[in-house]
Amino acid sequence: SNDILVDNFGRRVNYVRISVTDRCDFRCVYCMDEDMEFVPREQLLTLEELATVARAFTELGVSKIRITGGEPLVRRNVMQLFEQIGALPGLGELVMTTNGSQLPRYAEQLKAAGMKRLNISLDSLDPERFRRLTRVGELDKVLAGIDAARAAGFERTKINAVILKNRNHDEVTDLVRFASDRGMDLSFIEEMPLGAIGEHDRYEAYYSSDQIRADLEETFTLLPTTETTGGPSKYFQLAETGTRVGFISPHSHNFCDTCNRVRLTCEGRLLLCLGQEHSVDLRRVLRANPGDIEPVKQAIRDSMAIKPKGHDFNLQEKPVIFRHMNMTGG
Ligand code: GTP
Ligand code: 5AD
Ligand code: SF4
Repeated sequence: SNDILVDNFGRRVNYVRISVTDRCDFRCVYCMDEDMEFVPREQLLTLEELATVARAFTELGVSKIRITGGEPLVRRNVMQLFEQIGALPGLGELVMTTNGSQLPRYAEQLKAAGMKRLNISLDSLDPERFRRLTRVGELDKVLAGIDAARAAGFERTKINAVILKNRNHDEVTDLVRFASDRGMDLSFIEEMPLGAIGEHDRYEAYYSSDQIRADLEETFTLLPTTETTGGPSKYFQLAETGTRVGFISPHSHNFCDTCNRVRLTCEGRLLLCLGQEHSVDLRRVLRANPGDIEPVKQAIRDSMAIKPKGHDFNLQEKPVIFRHMNMTGG
């Protein structure tokens, strides 16, 4: 057979999200617990192992790799990994999701390493609120990071904002203006129930994409588009400024039918769906066959048989997925 990945529902997998660390310099309330314990270092994939998995995927027809964390830029020597992945034949796009705090230091190196696009999380433009949502983050650092990404010449840098009722829902218009003024895209995200969090009740904090759209339409005209970046965001374009505004709506507009992706946790578990536990332990395969990529490729091919149809998130029940978001970076 032609070496591409297709699951039992006929979905072609050409996009992999790779979490390079569970560690982060922030503690966002929807992602982590305040007193999070991180995975012991020896359980994380080494940079070499990560590069091997990335190569295996590109040899199986994967054209887009998104680096995630935790915060990817807190992993030591991670730039070396990006250079290796960036040079893989067959890779169309190497992209990253980041909290932005380290970008003043790394933006230029990232660009040079072949990183194509950045998604930067920004949930509030108010310093006090930003602090409460990230528990320890500083808004100024992230704003400086966004400036650094723009100065380094990244195309289509996107802002990600998780919107929570009574915490930041009243900022959606300001966030759109912020992105618009800087020629950036922006996606609004409905919070997903991964891991138990002490901070708020997820059902009470739910604020739907349709509600956000209605709020924005008091100020802007949102034109539907068919544009895609290959992820779950459904994009509209502002008639006034041309800005692309996306909505990631796992609860209100399920996008699982068109799923084209899998993810690797920082421990080397290949997760077939963000909202399920179906997975394959690639770390075991890597460590049982040092230097041999073929068994890794075979394990990946075989994993397609267990990719589930979709998530079944339910905000009214206790989370059934115990892993926190920082294990997969979404
Ligand atoms: P691009 O389309 O490449 O810009 O990326 P993206 O928006 O898919 O990626 P990003 O890392 O910015 O993630 C934004 C949000 O989408 C995060 O909250 C992710 O958890 C969520 N997301 C990405 N893929 C999936 C998925 O397959 N299922 C679910 N439920 N959420 C996803
Ligand atoms: N639900 C939805 N999005 C989340 N993110 C982190 N935790 C959650 C969650 N529970 C977002 C981050 C980042 C992206 C990788 O996922 O804000 O933008
Ligand atoms: Fe860190 Fe991202 Fe999780 Fe926030 S959402 S704590 S920035 S990994």
